[in-house]
Amino acid sequence: QTMATSSSDRRLHHVESGSGRMQRLNAVVLGESIASEEDELVFPSEGFSEQALVSSHVQMYKRSIEDPAGFWSEIASEFYWKTKWGEEVFTENLDVRKGKITIEWFKGATTNVCYNALDRNIEAGNGGKIAIQWEGNEPGHDAQLTYSELLEKVCQLSNYLKDIGIRKGDAVVIYMPMLMELPIAMLACARIGAVHSVVFAGFSTESLAQRIVDCKPKAVITCNAVRRGTKVIQLKDIVDYALVESAKNGVLVGACLTYENPSAMKREETKWQDGRDIWWQDVVPKYSTTCEVEWMDAEDPLFLLYTSGSTGKPKGVLHTIGGYMIYTATTFKYAFDYKSSDIYWCTADCGWITGHSYVTYGPLLNGATVVVFEGAPTYPDYGRCWDIVDKFKVTILYTAPTLVRSLMRSGDEYVTRYSRKSLRILGSVGEPINPSAWRWLFNVVGDSRCPISDTWWQTETGGFLITPLPGAWPQKPGSATFPFFGVQPAIVDEKGNELEGECSGYLCIKNSWPGAFRTLYGDHERYETTYFKPFTGYYFSGDGCRRDKDGYYWLTGRVDDVMNVSGHRIGTAEVESALVSHPQCAEAAVVGVEHEVKGQGIYAFVTLVDGVSYSQELRKSLVLAVRHQIGAFAAPDRIHWAPGLPKTRSGKIMRRILRKIASRQLDELGDTSTLADPSVVDQLIALSDF
Ligand code: WTA
Repeated sequence: QTMATSSSDRRLHHVESGSGRMQRLNAVVLGESIASEEDELVFPSEGFSEQALVSSHVQMYKRSIEDPAGFWSEIASEFYWKTKWGEEVFTENLDVRKGKITIEWFKGATTNVCYNALDRNIEAGNGGKIAIQWEGNEPGHDAQLTYSELLEKVCQLSNYLKDIGIRKGDAVVIYMPMLMELPIAMLACARIGAVHSVVFAGFSTESLAQRIVDCKPKAVITCNAVRRGTKVIQLKDIVDYALVESAKNGVLVGACLTYENPSAMKREETKWQDGRDIWWQDVVPKYSTTCEVEWMDAEDPLFLLYTSGSTGKPKGVLHTIGGYMIYTATTFKYAFDYKSSDIYWCTADCGWITGHSYVTYGPLLNGATVVVFEGAPTYPDYGRCWDIVDKFKVTILYTAPTLVRSLMRSGDEYVTRYSRKSLRILGSVGEPINPSAWRWLFNVVGDSRCPISDTWWQTETGGFLITPLPGAWPQKPGSATFPFFGVQPAIVDEKGNELEGECSGYLCIKNSWPGAFRTLYGDHERYETTYFKPFTGYYFSGDGCRRDKDGYYWLTGRVDDVMNVSGHRIGTAEVESALVSHPQCAEAAVVGVEHEVKGQGIYAFVTLVDGVSYSQELRKSLVLAVRHQIGAFAAPDRIHWAPGLPKTRSGKIMRRILRKIASRQLDELGDTSTLADPSVVDQLIALSDF
């Protein structure tokens, strides 16, 4: 892609910049000597930088690296702490040779995230400001809560939870759709020091049970049903089965608090177990609207969130209170250039990390107005997002490349029909945003006015690690640009040598940051092995990355056996184990393949049990097995029959070959002579249905 052919080039504006690097970049543009995608620069529009929170980041970044303790404690001082931290702001050991991996920030200090998000903002005079602007599945169905009202709702639930015996440190599983009650439940747990574990309401009963068995919650909070688009999903049924399954595994959950969602399902139609199940509406409103805060150590756990790894069992990523609070609040503020007049909408579900850090905690800690949307972004039609933007005058829209690509395909008229004048910043997360989707978002949605914050981060990192700061530097479509304050990335080769300058390799981080996860729940050893052993001395992200000649970072996707399907992390091993649970499946190997809308699609090679023959019905029932085991979002896009799988003599499946077959690059199969049985490759090709 050259400058001359790009659609955004005519709209480029130049900003004055004090730094040498920026001047050099300006020169590249002015010289018109643009050769590749790496050279395309998009500058903030005139006037944007003048009003931006950070217009020259160089000094601030330098300070954050040279004096992290000073930098972060100054920011932390803007929050409320019951007792302050001591001399030692943080301690870290990221080097397995030096002993146990530890990351601690503000240890010994006491605070409460819920207090900082709600009470503190109300005390500052913002009690009447809208905290949550909710939009239901059906257009016209909406509701809102001010900061004071939100606090009251949270306190009532906190009091209820305390009343049924939930104490500091107890786990609570939340399995809910995007109702206001979902962030309310998270905050209510945080207020009393309970550890929430939100499970995305698209996960199946098996996955939910697995998470319940792992974290042994005292209560589950759910909702009877939800409407998404035209579908009704009966969540309570899924929870019921999961609780039966958990009980079989020795985990008995005493309370299932169920929110009645009358627009989806009446309570009379909901299956019920007396003694265990309680209607939210019957009990919670009876409690007091004030609730004492439980003051927590900064290093006490705030939540667990399960995520996929390269081996079967999901990992319980554990975040603690103090550092996560400071980090989500600060990254939100700077990466979205947040001003108190902003109306912010993040399309993510609270079941994923994005919904934790950038629907609930980050924005509310900043006293922002947050739009929470229950429905599907393409219902009743492809214009729904822009309808919501206009309706609430959304100024910051944070979304995912997969949604951008699907809207892009449905035609510009769905966008241009709406004004979108309120928008000033756009954001992207979940996977690398391809330059063409970036340009469409920039030109069509943002009318070439709105910088795009392409934020790179992970469940493990708690908040953004590499992200543009709008107004501070020019962007390159498809690049997450530069590290956030306090973050020192390193790109290393296979041997763990740090590469300098222009390079590509494995993306690692050299130091800790306040929002980093502290462990994998119940498995510190797996934490060390997965993240700190691959490259000694570094946190390893699992992503590949390239740094260009101007220092911009370009994420190139996962380098482990984790797929990224519509921005959702799915382990190949998880899908394989779901397939193998099918009685007629003997063996399965799964790879990710390029997919126009989803980013990656799931491609499964399946070997059947002897004597079973291929059929379309069997294909369907294999897909169904995955839906049951994991959830609909993990359903394979393709099943490829495999009489045998390409294995080395030691029995290891050669995924490299499978990836080539799946992506039809048959002339790039490479060396197959090391296979135990090279003829399986020909058999596989013969059975391709393309
Ligand atoms: C990918 C989501 C490129 C990446 C916040 C990472 C991205 C994984 C980006 C984490 C981005 C996320 N550019 N890749 N802006 N954002 N990723 O834990 O592969 O669900 O490792 O966290 O998503 O997914 P997770």
